[in-house]
Amino acid sequence: MKQAKDYVGKEVRIGAWVTNKRSSGKIAFIQLRDGDYYFQGIVVKNDVGEEVFQIAKSLTQETSIFVDGVVQEDTRSALGYELLVKNIEVVGESHDYPITPKEHGTEFLMDHRHLWLRSTKQHAIMKIRNEIIRATYEFFNKEGFLKIDPPILTSSSPEGTTELFHTKYFDEDAFLTQSGQLYMEAGAMAFGKVFSFGPTFRAEKSKTRRHLIEFWMIEPEMAFTSQDESLVVQENYVSYLVQSVLDNCGDYLDTLGRDKEVLKKYTQLPYDRISYDDAIQLLQDNGFEDIQWGDDFGSPHETFIANQSEKPVFILNYPKAIKPFYMKNHPEREDVVLCADLIAPEGYGEIIGGSERIYDYEQMRSQIEKFGLSLEDYQWYLDLSRYGSVPHSGFGLGLERTVTWITGTEHIREAIPFPRLLNRIYP
Ligand code: 4AD
Ligand code: MG
Repeated sequence: MKQAKDYVGKEVRIGAWVTNKRSSGKIAFIQLRDGDYYFQGIVVKNDVGEEVFQIAKSLTQETSIFVDGVVQEDTRSALGYELLVKNIEVVGESHDYPITPKEHGTEFLMDHRHLWLRSTKQHAIMKIRNEIIRATYEFFNKEGFLKIDPPILTSSSPEGTTELFHTKYFDEDAFLTQSGQLYMEAGAMAFGKVFSFGPTFRAEKSKTRRHLIEFWMIEPEMAFTSQDESLVVQENYVSYLVQSVLDNCGDYLDTLGRDKEVLKKYTQLPYDRISYDDAIQLLQDNGFEDIQWGDDFGSPHETFIANQSEKPVFILNYPKAIKPFYMKNHPEREDVVLCADLIAPEGYGEIIGGSERIYDYEQMRSQIEKFGLSLEDYQWYLDLSRYGSVPHSGFGLGLERTVTWITGTEHIREAIPFPRLLNRIYP
């Protein structure tokens, strides 16, 4: 793709929007954005004539224009280039644009999310989100994974039955998918190594800065793979994401004020591993009296554990009772399963959940019954342990949690274009 530097000294025509403007006597500076870049246009009255200069002076915020001009270097601007304007043609006027350069409250901005996306900060976050998606496909393609797509409408509920969005499927009941995992297991048995990338839904009544109702998940699944081997794929993948953002989104990290030196540490492998047992002990030894063996971690617990390391940290082998039905037992322990959550540093919480899966038919069947799931609905899934089953492992990385962490954004609502939150489905 051609960049601004390839056009220095040349005349170009750009479709753009006005973000700001100031003029003094015979010169006007218009701040522009073309969707990709934010840059400045300089309009000199003696150069363009009275008519064009008047148009420049009357431009209002978010008016769309075609602008003709010559690209020139400008070392003072963030981009390094500016446009010496020759002509301006107004395309669509904009009056009383609601988001002005002054401060606005979060609810106001969320109500205007469709416009808020135009601002430099949101632009930078979406560019980094896009880079993470791009690097995901690159990583898994390089590693020989096949991308396959699980359904969105399903009759199964891998992550428990309490957080499902119900819908009608003609005369039958259906849910919006919580996770594509079970279908990805079928995929792994067909294609060896697979990954998915798609929307998932949780009717979670959680109103935190880490929870969305609709979020996007990357779910790899690998045949003939142990949990330990899966952890290596996970850390390689996460480190690859961070490195890709560092390599390709440096300017966006600057826009967001994200410290690159901190991010560089997150590319150093391996990540630390701590068992659930040791994590509980560590918390209790450090004054967390509220937590007992068997409890799930809350966000202060995760943050404390993560703060012991300068990188993401894996918490291994959680109690069976707080994890889903499909996780394989620890070979020497009845009470814990072969799983891990990857906790991001700096209080961003869990970004990956993964495990080794049960592959013994009788055991899987009994788990399905024990969890009160319908054997009839899960016949297809049971077929996977009936016909040539093999040890297999997989994981799910939450895209928005990862974007929030890498961009250093406080709240997950800014990591997705149109967030669905407990109290929000508009716009
Ligand atoms: O830990 P979870 O629930 O794991 C699964 O769904 C497995 N079936 C994945 C697998 O093994 N294939 O979710 C995985 C990740 C979490 O670590 C978190 O990053 C993200 O999905 N996540 C959410 N992100 C935003 N909002 C929510 N409500 C989320 N719930 C989970
Ligand atoms: Mg989890």
